Formats: sequence, C-alpha cells, structure tokens
Amino acid sequence: MGRNIVIVGAQWGDEGKGKVVDWLTERAHGVVRFQGGHNAGHTLWIEGRKTILRLIPSGIMHPQVKCYIGNGVVLSPEALFNEIGELEAAGLEVRSRLFISGAAALILPYHIALDQAREARANNERIGTTGRGIGPAYEDKAARRALRVQDVFDAAHFKARLRENLDFYNFILSRYLNAAPVDEARTLDAALAYADQFAPLMANIPACLDAENRAGRHLLFEGAQGALLDVDHGTYPFVTSSHCVAGAAATGAGVGPRQLHYILGVAKAYCTRVGSGPFPSELYDANNPARCAQAGAALARTGHEFGSVTRRPRRTGWLDTAALARSLQLNSASGLCITKLDVLDAFDSIRLCTGYRLNGRRVDALPSSASLAAQCEPVYEDHPGWKTSTAGIRAWDDLPANARAYLRRIEAAAGVPIDLISTGPQRDAMILVRHPFD
Ligand code: IMP
Repeated sequence: MGRNIVIVGAQWGDEGKGKVVDWLTERAHGVVRFQGGHNAGHTLWIEGRKTILRLIPSGIMHPQVKCYIGNGVVLSPEALFNEIGELEAAGLEVRSRLFISGAAALILPYHIALDQAREARANNERIGTTGRGIGPAYEDKAARRALRVQDVFDAAHFKARLRENLDFYNFILSRYLNAAPVDEARTLDAALAYADQFAPLMANIPACLDAENRAGRHLLFEGAQGALLDVDHGTYPFVTSSHCVAGAAATGAGVGPRQLHYILGVAKAYCTRVGSGPFPSELYDANNPARCAQAGAALARTGHEFGSVTRRPRRTGWLDTAALARSLQLNSASGLCITKLDVLDAFDSIRLCTGYRLNGRRVDALPSSASLAAQCEPVYEDHPGWKTSTAGIRAWDDLPANARAYLRRIEAAAGVPIDLISTGPQRDAMILVRHPFD
C-alpha cells in the first residue's frame, strides 16, 4: 500500500506549506486539496520564478504528479480556470493530470457579494476575511442549498436552484445589507459555460485515491490555512469556515482516517496572522499604531509578510509554543516542520511565548475561546540570537549552536520532533532530519 502524508498549518495559516508540499512531492505520486478554496495562497519559488497557487495543489509544478481537488474544497470556477490558464501560459501541462470531485460546492458571485457586504457592514466584529465568498459557500453547503460542481451538467436543475438561492440572497443583499443584487441570467450563463471545461476533469476522487494507494503509490494531502483558523478549534468566530485540522483530510477527500499515515505540522520560526482575532504574542500590526514594536516590524520586513492572496500586511509576533502545542495535539502531528528560520538571523535576542497569564493565573495552552485568548498576556522566555546567516543551510550540523538550541527548545515545548527545517524560499533550502516517507 502507498503511504499518505497530511501537511497542515499549525498556526494561523501562511506557514509556508506550499514549499514543503512541493519539496515532498519529489517522493509522491499525487497531491490532494481537501478544504478551503482560493482564500489560500501558496507561494513557490522554483528556478527563480515566483508562482502563487490558490486552488491547484502545490504538486502541480512536478510534471509527473497527479493533482486532486476533493469534495471538501469550495470551488470558484472563475478562479480555477484563471489559475489553470496562468499555469498553461507558463508552459505547464495541467488538465491531463488534474482531477476534481463533483461534490465540491461552487463559489458563485452571490457568495462573494455577501462576504464583502457583510464585512463592509460589520464594524468591531469584522473578521477580516479574504472576501472570496468562502464563508457563504460553506454556509450553503451546510444548509443543503449549495450548487456543486456536478450540477453544471444539469442546466435545468442548476437554473431552478440558482433562482431559489438568488431570490433569497438578493433580498438579503438589497434589503438588509444595502448592497447591489446579483444578476441571475449572467450568473447562470457564466456558470454553465464552464461545463465543457469541467467535464474532462471530473473524477470519483475517493476511488482514484484508493486505487493509487492499492498500487503502492504515495499521496500528499495539502492543507490550507492553519489549525488555529479551524471553524471549531480555532479562535472562533475569527476563523475560516472549514476544518483545517488533519482529520479534515479524511472527510474532505473521501479516505478513511486509517489511511492518514503521517501528519506534518508546519510552523514558522515566529508567528503571523492576517485578519482579526486574538494573537497573544503579537508585536506588530501595520493597522494598529499601539502595536508596532520594532522587532515585529523587522519580522514583517525580513519575512516579506504580506498576504499572497490579498496583499494585506500580516500581523507578526514571536513564536507561541503554547498555541503550537495545542495545535499539534489537535492534529495528532507525527512531526514538525519549522519554516523561515533565516528570518531570525539578525536578532540579538529571540523570544518564545511558552504560556500566558490570564486573570492572574498561569495558563499553559491557548484557550479556544476568542475572548479568553484575547485576555491572555504572553509569558516569554528569552533566547540568544545566532547573528549569522542560516539562509540556504542544508544540514543540521551546519546550523549555529544558538539556532540548534532554539529549535531544540521548540521541540521540547511543542512535544513533537522537528523533522524538517526550511532555511529559505528556494526548493533546496531545506534541512532534513527525518523523512516523512521513511
Ligand atoms: P475567509 O477564509 O476568507 O473567510 O477568512 C477568514 C479568516 O481566515 C480571515 O482572518 C482570513 O485572513 C483568514 N484566512 C483565510 N485564508 C487564509 C490563508 O490562506 N492564510 C492566512 N489566513 C487566511
């Protein structure tokens, strides 16, 4: 049987999972997306060229690899076919090795209109979504009124269901949210026009994945966002609308949990967050003058911390091992990959948040309640910096002693071994401690 690896974000997303998936794809035959949508942005640097993938699995850059989009993803046809077009323009063959589940819920223009109108209306309760319609599309799925990819092949059904949905949502948009209604005929024509492009990509994903495994082939399950943005386990309501933990790979692709053989949690050597919500070890928020510590600004600058989808500046802070330990536990992580270690190279001293003070008491794990998490005061440990470049280092023994001590401390606090360390954006800037496929 093939071996399956799940790669998940262990923080608030943007941990650098795309590069790790791309790196591990050397040993895999297929890569599967199982949740989220084009709110994700996976940046890859390959042979000096920057590629941002939003929906298509990061394995696509390897010509022999098959890519799967599972039922758990919410799919914007426009975003999908634009992205395919961009990759094809760069000379990649995509369509012969991309397989899509008919059960994936579609993101249609009214989802985007609702997402943006709600965010514009909210004042203090703004989530800071990516405005891509992700939340409203998952709502429709749970409410059993979603249009799914397979519905584009049944025009009469699509038209009837779209009419029902737009009757309801156009009322909400115009009468409650004070926003422009969405045109029914245009939405219908645009969606149905994708049927011919969708048809050759449709596949029974659970059956395909099972067949690959039975043939001894290895698969990677590529998570989007991060466990602390999970709709149940994250800092609710400041979360995305899907499950971002490793268990979602089973439900979102249609494999059984016993088929998930190794879980890799990916975390930056520090922390970032985009959008609103608690972030106890935060140092820097470009939109909040009260939070502009010099160290945080240096992290943002050196780490190029801007959202790859929205270009929003990310909030930055020290690594929070109390949040990380909780996240790794939710994911039953087998191993940890620390990314962007080189961003810390110039610091004299580096802090680790190992717990919090909450109402005068010490707390060891990030509370799941957003209001409690927001009241947590970080408790820090200070570590000496290494003040030398780690960029591109490829062997553990070549790391400076202080960097090794910092990583060992993370490992101890997180309770999970570090199996990989990324030391730069290029594909080969990686230290391998233990290979997830071995
Ligand atoms: P939504 O997923 O667009 O509904 O946004 C909900 C929250 O998740 C917001 O705080 C977003 O900034 C955050 N979010 C969504 N996708 C990503 C991602 O890929 N990386 C980091 N944050 C994300």
